[in-house]
Amino acid sequence: MARVTEDEYLLDTPVVRGFVAAVRAAIAAAASPAAACDAIRPRFAELLADPGWLPQRYQEPNPASAMGGDIGQWLLFRAGDRSLTLFALVVPSGSETPIHDHLAWGLVGLYRGAQDEEIYARDDGGALARVEARELAPGDFYSLLPPRDDIHRVRTTSPETSVSLHLLTNDTGCVWRHTFDEGTGEARPFRSGYVNVECAEP
Ligand SMILES: [Fe+2]
Repeated sequence: MARVTEDEYLLDTPVVRGFVAAVRAAIAAAASPAAACDAIRPRFAELLADPGWLPQRYQEPNPASAMGGDIGQWLLFRAGDRSLTLFALVVPSGSETPIHDHLAWGLVGLYRGAQDEEIYARDDGGALARVEARELAPGDFYSLLPPRDDIHRVRTTSPETSVSLHLLTNDTGCVWRHTFDEGTGEARPFRSGYVNVECAEP
């Protein structure tokens, strides 16, 4: 059974509380993850377009990053039952994430800067193949519905740091997920953590 605790608003503002309430209502009313994502899209687009709600503190890199490259993953909201998180991923200019998965559905979009994103999929033999590459500009976002789009790598191409927003239906920073070797497709256990919150379980 999932450990239930209180909701955590690391960034406790009317904007974040209003967004989370709208997301929960959309999920409760939706017949499927895809329908929930469709219903959330207008609110997510608003959040990406609003320049004022995310303090600079949550747009700073993290020199101690588990992903390398000073990449910072800042938790903004986490549901008490760990079924929903909102976080900002900060990738300095020229840095890139490992190839990784998320293991949950939700929405991902770019808030600041520019990124190249490469999307991978496993073929029948278990090998990893790059299936798509796209350039992301601020305001671009997509619904992540695993297995589609679940394995990717992002790289910041702008001179300034990029900041992307993730709304995902797990505790993405604390669950064990995977990074992948591009050549062999080998998966390795991976936990990214958050800059501003410890993960309780080892
Ligand atoms: Fe990702």
